[in-house]
Formats: sequence, structure tokens, C-alpha cells
Amino acid sequence: MATKNKTIVLGVTGSISAYKAADLASRFTREGFRVDVILTESAVKFVAPLTFRNITGRPVITTLWDLDSEFSVEHVALAEAADIVLIAPATANIIAKIACGTADDMLSCTVLATKAPVVIAPAMNDNMWANPITQENVEKLKKRGFTFVEPAYGRLASGKMGTGRLTSLDEICGITLQVLGRKGDLAVKNIVVTAGGTQEPVDPVRCLTNRSSGKMGYAIAEAARNRGAQVTLISAPTALPEPTGIKVVYIKTAEEMLKAVQSAVKGADALVMAAAVADFRPVKAAGQKIKRADLSGLTLELEKTPDILAQAKGDFIRVGFAAESHDVVVNAKDKVKRKGLDLIVANDITEKDCGFGTDTNRVTIIDSQGKAEELPLLPKGEVADKILDRLSAKLKQGS
Ligand code: CTP
Repeated sequence: MATKNKTIVLGVTGSISAYKAADLASRFTREGFRVDVILTESAVKFVAPLTFRNITGRPVITTLWDLDSEFSVEHVALAEAADIVLIAPATANIIAKIACGTADDMLSCTVLATKAPVVIAPAMNDNMWANPITQENVEKLKKRGFTFVEPAYGRLASGKMGTGRLTSLDEICGITLQVLGRKGDLAVKNIVVTAGGTQEPVDPVRCLTNRSSGKMGYAIAEAARNRGAQVTLISAPTALPEPTGIKVVYIKTAEEMLKAVQSAVKGADALVMAAAVADFRPVKAAGQKIKRADLSGLTLELEKTPDILAQAKGDFIRVGFAAESHDVVVNAKDKVKRKGLDLIVANDITEKDCGFGTDTNRVTIIDSQGKAEELPLLPKGEVADKILDRLSAKLKQGS
């Protein structure tokens, strides 16, 4: 995992949304980061250091002058240990201090002393955010390579509506992981991923589809982003939130997915077909809703959909999936040959905790020579990284 043994310094400043930083600390801890939290003097008025200490299992820094702290001897120790610094929520005050090069507390000192990338998620009153002084500070910092996760529109602490709310934690995490992975093993690689189950219309109300949740494909797209890749995700309808830092193309049918894939693979380094493409569709979808009275004896005439993976050929690595209910490895080995793939990821969808809708998967990865590697039951994010390890090795072999 790209986050294993990495240190994130999470700076929290005095905003009503400081409580949300506890959730951020928890997410990054679960991702495998060492999370070192710095609370400013104002942040301590909103949230207790103990909360962060318990979540991260690490001492929390609240002052530059704590002589017992492991970071006290050299106040830049944390700046050097950091792989990334995230300030969330960031007040207008801390943004102004950083823009001026002020270093009068632990957080501003750390930011001035670090060579790690810095991500800033502002949260403040809408007038303070819109003020040209704040905007000039933000522009200045952006030019210097700081990344901003822009605040959102919504209800503010004052009770009025405006732009200044801390944006969604999904977005803050996504952008932080993307910035951290910029120099990863897939940096500047162009990777196309498909996800979800296509929907083939029967009439304007009904469709033929399958049980795919899209989770595996989304996990691959996000893991590739976190390793530096530029990702295009071609997604059939799912209930999943749109991932940040990824170009998402929404489609519904196999035919639409084919067109989107053909356009996206131009210049791509790899195509990962995690989508569960419907294998057949009604020959003709009814233009109007089929009424109950017309249903007796209704027969749907079906035809094959295009085989997207078989048609998407070119100078890029092709990875397929084989969701099987029996003879998993035998069927997958046949598919890898038949479709001329570089890799195929096979799983038994009838197994407990595997396949459609689950958060875990147990897969076997098979290469073009038929060499199979069986993986244990893992969270889909970890399965994604294992697949990308093989993909990355193939890309290196080819370059
Ligand atoms: N696939 C595709 N286009 C289709 C059907 C499948 O590109 N019309 C891709 C899937 O995204 C997957 C791989 O082909 O990566 C294998 O899909 P699967 O449904 O397991 O195989 P099929 O080709 O449909 O073969 P079978 O029906 O024999 O299982």
C-alpha cells in the first residue's frame, strides 16, 4: 500500500469544523499512516488533544514549548519526518501566516521548515474567504506549490449560507492521497479503468443489468491515482460517490461503454476492465413503457453485446476480470488466451465475502503464460494494489 509507513502531519486550527479533523485522523490512521497531529492554541478551544491521542495512538503537539515532547529538542523534527502535511481545517489566520513566512507556533514552524508537500483545506466565514487579502494569500501559496482543497458552499457557523465550509472529508482524503502519490510507481501513466454493471434498456422504465456494485473498479481507479497515475474511470451506474482527482465518464449501456473505452484508450498505457458488462441486450428497446395488460406471453428477443475487451486492442497493457461461479482458474486461463490479455483477475462469486457488493475479495491473478497467483481474502483496496503491482511490473518490462 502506498500509505504504509508514511507520516502525515495533520495540522488543526481554530474553526468550528475542527471536530471533523478527528474523523480525518481516524481515516488516515486506518489507511496505515503514522498520524502526528498539531493543534494550534485556538484549535484546543474547539477539540481536546485527548481525542486525537486516542485515535492516532501518538502524542499530540499543542505547543512549541513542551520540553517533554519528542519533538521539543529540534522544533523542525516533525517537519523532516513528514511525508505530507495536511492542514484541515485551515483558518484565514494560518493561511496568512504561511503566506508571510511567519513561524511563531508549532504548525507554522513545521510548514516553513518542511520539504514535504502541503495540502490546505480552508474553513472560515464567507466574507473572510472572499476577502482579496485571503485570496491573494491563497494565490501566492498555490504558485509556490501548495495544494488547496477549496471550501464548499453551505450553512456557515454564523447561520447564513455562503462559501467557506470545510469541504467533504472524501475530497480532502482523496486529494491528500493523490498529492502524496505524485511520484509513485505509476506517475504520469495513463490508465483507463471500467467499473459497475451496464444497464441494457427493455423500455424507458426497465433494464437488464447485473449485481456488480462497482466497488472493485473504483478501488483500482483510486489506488492507481494514489500511485501517481492519470486515471480515466468509465463507470456504469453505481451507488458510489465520485472519486476526486479522477476523470469519470458516466455511461449506461455496453454500447456506450465501448465508445467511451475506444476514445479513452488512445494514448493510454493500460486498460483494466473491471466492469461487469451485460453479455446480452434486448434487440429492440420499447419506446414506451410496456403496460401490464400487454405482458401476457411477452418474450424478449436478445442479442449479444459487443465484447469491449476483445475489441479494445492497441499498444497498451490489457487486464481483464473473470467473475466465475465454477472451474474458476480453468475458465480464467481460457479467457486470458481467448481475449489475448496480459493479466486476468479471477474470482469465485459464489464464495462468502467475495464478489458482488462485498468490501473484500479473494482473487487469483493469472498472466498470459497461464502462471497463477492465488491471493488471500483482502479488502478490495488491497486487492487493487496487488493487481497494480503486477500491472506496474508489466509496464516496466515494456518500457
Ligand atoms: N467483457 C467485455 N465485454 C463484454 C463482456 C465482458 O469487455 N461484452 C470483459 C469484462 O469486463 C471482463 C472480461 O471481459 O474483464 C471477462 O468477462 P466475463 O463476463 O467473465 O467473460 P465473458 O467474455 O462474458 O465470457 P463468459 O460468458 O464465457 O464468462
